Amino acid sequence: MGVQAKSAAAAKKSAPHPNTWVFNEGEFARYNDVRLGLMTHALHYGTGVFEGIRAYWNSKHEQLYLLEAAAHYDRMRRSANVMRMSLPYSTEELVNFTVELLRRNQFKSDVYVRPLLYTSSEEIGVRLHNLEHSFFIYAIPFGNYVEIESGIRCMVSTWRRVPDQSLPARAKVTGSYAQSALAKSEAVEAGFDEAIVLTVDGHVSEGSAENLFMLKDGVFVTPPVTDDILEGVTRVLLTRLIKEELNLPVVERSIDRTELYTCDELLLCGTGAQVSPVVEVDRRPVGSGKVGEFAQELQNIYFGAVRGESPKYKDWTIPVY
Ligand SMILES: Cc1ncc(COP(=O)(O)O)c(C=O)c1O
Repeated sequence: MGVQAKSAAAAKKSAPHPNTWVFNEGEFARYNDVRLGLMTHALHYGTGVFEGIRAYWNSKHEQLYLLEAAAHYDRMRRSANVMRMSLPYSTEELVNFTVELLRRNQFKSDVYVRPLLYTSSEEIGVRLHNLEHSFFIYAIPFGNYVEIESGIRCMVSTWRRVPDQSLPARAKVTGSYAQSALAKSEAVEAGFDEAIVLTVDGHVSEGSAENLFMLKDGVFVTPPVTDDILEGVTRVLLTRLIKEELNLPVVERSIDRTELYTCDELLLCGTGAQVSPVVEVDRRPVGSGKVGEFAQELQNIYFGAVRGESPKYKDWTIPVY
């Protein structure tokens, strides 16, 4: 399938159903009954903060497992603080609304949950102060965001990651995703699956919507939170799995671009991308050019844990039904 056809198919798959239940402004409503004004501030100026959360369907258990919802809402609160906004609910309330939303929609497949806190004032004027905010949670059945089984091919983007001095990457701000979109489309239209983005000073930061780990000489290395990354929830989960299940050390340090060409294994991770082994960067094979042994093992352990199959990691998930 060509790039255009693939994008069209993906867009169709993620199109909202008009009757989907959403949580909007403190109550549950149908998707088509909610309306936004044309002059909504966030639409014009990117003044919103959001999250992406997954829930995993386990057909054996007949159960839907919501993954690390509290960690996502805690991060959302921190993002909001950067943007002079404030979440109108406690994390516990937000998790409960999310569980109730999934129940109402009766999902029996993997699901992606999208909470958004945005500036809803309908007026012209670039600023953060003296404006009104609104909040909703939307959810939709969702499969793999990138191909995870055969590994992905990446290019180092010509676009640089937004620096903390300009637009803090550690806050998940809607406006920053224009940068991610530039990088992603450049990569996909050039025939790659994903972009790896460098910091302004040339170190490896992350993927367009994923954190990055590389394996080199028996050590997993990931860029530090000061290299303009989003402080990923999956990154924390994988750090634990690498240490406790693979018995390998994890080091946070800056990564040079050419280390991507000389490492043994590479992977991108995130709520959307899950655990995505990288098999090629800039037309150079990573390691053997096939999915790495450790990345594969990590992927298997991760999927067991998020689908509620691992007693040790039970506290990562909340059963919805
Ligand atoms: C830019 C960026 N980096 C990293 C991640 C991974 O974060 P998480 O694991 O919390 O989904 C995301 C995912 O939303 C992202 O958008």
